[in-house]
Amino acid sequence: MGNFKSTLKKIPSNPSKKGRSKLKEPEPELEPEPQILVEENKPKYYLSNRGDENLDRQHFNHFFRKHIFGNNFSAPIGRRLAQGECKVLDVGCGPGTWLLDLAHKYKNVKFVGIDIEPTVYPNEIKPGNINFYQADIFDGLPFPDNEFDFVHQEIMALIIKADQWNFVISELIRVTKPGGFIELVEYIAPDDNGPILSKIYQTHYDLCLKRGVDTSLIPHLDNMMMSQNYISQVNKDEKTFIIGPNGGKVGITILEIIISFIMSDIATEDISFQQGIDKEEHKNRFKNLDEELKGTSPKLKLCRFWAQKNDN
Ligand SMILES: C[S@@+](CC[C@H](N)C(=O)[O-])C[C@H]1O[C@@H](n2cnc3c(N)ncnc32)[C@H](O)[C@@H]1O
Repeated sequence: MGNFKSTLKKIPSNPSKKGRSKLKEPEPELEPEPQILVEENKPKYYLSNRGDENLDRQHFNHFFRKHIFGNNFSAPIGRRLAQGECKVLDVGCGPGTWLLDLAHKYKNVKFVGIDIEPTVYPNEIKPGNINFYQADIFDGLPFPDNEFDFVHQEIMALIIKADQWNFVISELIRVTKPGGFIELVEYIAPDDNGPILSKIYQTHYDLCLKRGVDTSLIPHLDNMMMSQNYISQVNKDEKTFIIGPNGGKVGITILEIIISFIMSDIATEDISFQQGIDKEEHKNRFKNLDEELKGTSPKLKLCRFWAQKNDN
């Protein structure tokens, strides 16, 4: 097994750990620094936005998901956006691809992105109708009640622990205007896997559980939304596709995304550590995945859960 050192590396901290965090505009003249605590040698590959390669994958992944649905959201908010004069929030916005894509189309809409990592989103070169802020969702969203017409959160399920989901969803609802919409977008683990893909997903599941993240909750996000105040109906928009060559172009593309994630330096480090193998062995294991996928048709789901906030 690897050497498990738990040295806390203190990187300049987020000052607002209690209560709702305050909006903090980036200071353009300062070199931005990472703002989170990293426990060295502890699983951290879910922080997959470190490094250019990971940012490229997130941009690519955004356009893949848009292609799968044929649009950027499922909630019926298009007309309101087209009319302008409304506000949209993206929580855990990463490099801001979703916001950038929409901000070009809806020039009169105000877009806001928050992320815990101030180095991932564009700080200077960006459309005038987007603002990015550093904030930690677990401190509560740094916005008043009933502020946004549309609140969106995409691919955060590897970050939110089982006991944090209710709080996070309640915050998304709190900052949404009555009559506005909330939308969560997540992948749901594949079924009909062969042995190599099963092993990948089992390891991934175990690593998540070690951090308190239970990926088996993802298919039930609609029930979690339903259990909140101000929500009386939750809708689900689901797309299913096959991973690998049996899934055509979509299957090959999603396979590339999965492989680039699993083989990234940060994932290789965590997964090989978890399995007690060296990094080369981890990489070699997946050399036969292509072959396995010719004989199997594992199905992956991409799911949008959306709801309208009631007036009372
Ligand atoms: C997998 S990325 C998804 C990015 C983006 N939503 C997308 O779909 O491309 C998850 C993002 O959540 C951010 N994040 C992690 N913990 C967070 C927290 N506590 N509060 C806000 N953002 C967080 C990460 O920095 C990362 O940019």
